[in-house]
Amino acid sequence: MRVLVTGGAGFIGSHTVVELLEADHQVVVVDNLSNSSLVALERVAGICGRAPAFAKVDICDKAGLRQVFAEHRPEAVVHFAGLKAVGESVEKPLSYYQNNIAGTATLCEVMAEHGVRQLVFSSSATVYGDPETLPIREDAPLGATNPYGRTKLFIEEMLRDLHVADPSWRIAILRYFNPIGAHSSGRIGEDPQGIPSNLFPFITQVAIGRRDRLQVFGDDYPTADGTGVRDYIHVVDLALGHLKALERLAAGPGLVTCNLGTGQGYSVLEMVKSFERVSGRKVPYEIIARRPGDIAACYADPSMAQKELGWTTIRSLDEMCRDGWRWQEGNPKGYSETE
Ligand code: NAD
Ligand code: UD1
Repeated sequence: MRVLVTGGAGFIGSHTVVELLEADHQVVVVDNLSNSSLVALERVAGICGRAPAFAKVDICDKAGLRQVFAEHRPEAVVHFAGLKAVGESVEKPLSYYQNNIAGTATLCEVMAEHGVRQLVFSSSATVYGDPETLPIREDAPLGATNPYGRTKLFIEEMLRDLHVADPSWRIAILRYFNPIGAHSSGRIGEDPQGIPSNLFPFITQVAIGRRDRLQVFGDDYPTADGTGVRDYIHVVDLALGHLKALERLAAGPGLVTCNLGTGQGYSVLEMVKSFERVSGRKVPYEIIARRPGDIAACYADPSMAQKELGWTTIRSLDEMCRDGWRWQEGNPKGYSETE
């Protein structure tokens, strides 16, 4: 299949492009490189033995998108492009609404103009806000506590409206839990700009010596050891979920909404222990106050994805740590240190 991947140079996008190429799909990546590097796509080509096509285009640029659609004639779109930093979204809400919501509306318009109506969209577990019950099912109440989360909620609503207006659209809304790890080659991985706000990249940067110690945000949550619990998912398992979603869309019309998580929650301290065991490195940490806006625990009921997409995760927490560490160790400064 000819697949257009927006945001394909980013963390999850680059891993998905690898799996698409390895499954013999033809791929064109559209990315404005606002949070990524072309080196990632060069590495993808190294892993797969062939490169995806690439267009440096912003998804808000309708003329640019039209040109890509005319030239590459995609049959389906996997849409990762978007801004994702929660703190920044509070400071710059308009750029989040513009980039994420208006960008997605523009993308959908251009898709419709070109008769492309198969779309896989990156949503997030953030749309569940502070969940009332665990594990979280897709029919749980929705809510968002920051502009980033609201962009995901609004886009989900927009896609549901689009599907009501024209049921020939085939849409998969995938709600990711906490993607971590890296491709087993160690050639591509997560490359956060500045100080990482997420747990796993912070841990790997402490282990490599870029940061002194981890700050654990609170040990007084109502969880087994008092630290926050999340559903960490290997980025390659997550990437494979997108291939399953494309197969599902090719099989028939409809709109499906699925959690992509493992169903298993781990605490911050369990993550530190697993990482130390696998990497052989110490991760010094100190307990500090809770991070405002954090929730105690969040993990998926992944049974809908199994039923609708025939997808389950197979990679363990130790594999996530091992692969994430291989990437960090081989690329201490991420993509900025090229060969
Ligand atoms: P990322 O920042 O690594 O990748 C996003 C890519 O989109 C980047 O390459 C960036 O340059 C590109 N991009 C941003 N705005 C663009 C625009 N206007 N036009 C063209 N390209 C643009 O992020 P990621 O972690 O790979 O996340 C991918 C998607 O998954 C995002 O939509 C994110 O919100 C969503 N998501 C991520 C997580 C996570 O923890 N990483 C969790 C849930 C959902
Ligand atoms: C983050 C995002 C959320 C997104 C989710 C999945 C923020 C504020 N929220 O939340 O919008 O949907 O990822 O991608 O970025 N922790 C520490 N020390 C750290 C970092 C984190 O103790 O330095 C703890 C947190 O309190 C939490 C756990 O580690 O309990 C995981 O944190 P993080 O990786 O930021 O993920 P989320 O909190 O799920």
